[in-house]
Amino acid sequence: MSRTVYCNGEFLPEEDAKVSIFDRGFLFADGVYEVTSVLNGKLIDFDGHAKRLERSLGELQMASPVTTEELLEIHRKLVAENNIEEGMIYLQITRGNPGDRDFAFPPSDTKPTIVLFTQTANLLHNPKVDQGMKVVSVEDQRWARRDIKTVQLLYPSLAKMAAKAAGADDAWMVEDGAVTEGSSNNAYIVKGGKIITRHLGNEILHGITRAAVLRFAKSAQMEVEERAFTLEEAKEADEAFVTSASTFVMPVVQIDDTPVGTGTPGSVALRLREIYLDEMQKAAV
Ligand code: PDD
Repeated sequence: MSRTVYCNGEFLPEEDAKVSIFDRGFLFADGVYEVTSVLNGKLIDFDGHAKRLERSLGELQMASPVTTEELLEIHRKLVAENNIEEGMIYLQITRGNPGDRDFAFPPSDTKPTIVLFTQTANLLHNPKVDQGMKVVSVEDQRWARRDIKTVQLLYPSLAKMAAKAAGADDAWMVEDGAVTEGSSNNAYIVKGGKIITRHLGNEILHGITRAAVLRFAKSAQMEVEERAFTLEEAKEADEAFVTSASTFVMPVVQIDDTPVGTGTPGSVALRLREIYLDEMQKAAV
């Protein structure tokens, strides 16, 4: 059945939603995006995603075509129209259609393009939680502003394909010997009870799930260290896991050919997943 999507002010059947071939998102990947999960028909951490969207737009000198209140209404209407109990809402905003292809930004009164669509997914009972994920390491060849959530996702897509070709689930990207993050998630290790994850900076996306998970870990008296860690350190860790809006907290049980710890999902990761889901479902809107 056709989904209802949102495109530039209108709710439409997906086959009727159209974007120009001159759109800068298409020609230059000149756009940003957000992904918000839905559990029991409610939005998880909408405020966090809305704030990061604002930041991404600001870093690229793009104006938002909607207010945060309007954005919430659009998300809610898409959940209702598509009967989404569990899944994701994807949002993309681009610098719009200036009419001609030109590297220079178009005049500031060019209307941005805004598109939102839904996808259903089995998020809570994802079978990967029990199995744990296998990751392979790849060189991080992305641009240097990974803190901006842009739609230039070709390198993460290549990394994902490299992982699949190696029989793994995902890739961990490595720069100067240190792990930056997963293809579409933040990366963590646990050593001697301490949770270690890369510090914020331009090298990684500032995960909304990461922020919440670290907050919950600290209030549960778990020790957290935000610093770069090497691939070798990760392979010798007791546990590893990733976080994102679509996987929440997901154990990692193998890095390249090395099992992590016992090679099964770790207790810290599983506990954090439980706390995260409990707390975030209570706060869902
Ligand atoms: N990806 N790092 C990268 C490179 C990401 O693409 C993502 C999210 C994250 C985690 O951020 P958050 O916790 O805010 O989802 C970290 C989304 C889910 C995606 O592209 O589908």
